[in-house]
Amino acid sequence: MNGDKHIYTARLPDEQGFITYPVEEHAIWQELITNQQAVLPGRACTEYLQGLEALQLPTTKIPQLADIDQVLLATTGWRTAQVPALISFGRFFELLANRSFPVATFIRRREDFDYIQEPDIFHEIAGHCPLLTHPAFATFNQTYGELGLKATKEERVFLARLYWFTIEFGLVGTSAENRRIYGGGILSSPAETIYALGGEPEYREFNIADVLRTPYRIDRIQPIYYVLDHIDSLFKIAKETDIMKEVHTAMEKGLFEPHPSLLNEKQ
Ligand SMILES: [Fe+2]
Repeated sequence: MNGDKHIYTARLPDEQGFITYPVEEHAIWQELITNQQAVLPGRACTEYLQGLEALQLPTTKIPQLADIDQVLLATTGWRTAQVPALISFGRFFELLANRSFPVATFIRRREDFDYIQEPDIFHEIAGHCPLLTHPAFATFNQTYGELGLKATKEERVFLARLYWFTIEFGLVGTSAENRRIYGGGILSSPAETIYALGGEPEYREFNIADVLRTPYRIDRIQPIYYVLDHIDSLFKIAKETDIMKEVHTAMEKGLFEPHPSLLNEKQ
């Protein structure tokens, strides 16, 4: 959403809402999705794979948003919203609160194949939209938008950690054997999809109080992942947890020490 490097510009829809992309950009989509199809089984969580099946994403071309909307509307009542590469936090929260998922309609360049700080259409569609067909994940996104809209700037910084360690970089499972990925930041990164379950990172049991106090960097591969017991727990967090109370407690207690790898300036 907000990054330091703004090198991408979204392609705009015509009057019918159709977006035209150059052939080379469809080729990048094809390469990304083909790559992911090979690594997702056994790594992505079941709910994501079911959503992916429902979406029937094209493999040879970048999908049109209207085709994604048909599936989202029929499953959870969500839809996408075409946005420029960067939008304000206020607009971002407003869209989520209204069950609209912002999608910047540009695709990464080949040099950013494994990860880009500015989320592209592959990240939003292939990374997040499959789980937006799942009620718990969809509700959690909506609650996050509603809370973010009302939050102060400082509260939003803490809320962002909850988003980061769930929707973007969340894992799910109750043991090392059944640990799977649901975070769209991982599932849209060919390299991180392999790395995330490889045993090298640190796996912590999901706990909102800890998540809110854990520093992260958007320009590093993640050294720590929080593992939720079940996707349905997102529904409980959204509906039964006083998230803002947790935010205030985290603000009082302050952040944990950053993981050593986040302090090292060399990649
Ligand atoms: Fe994302």
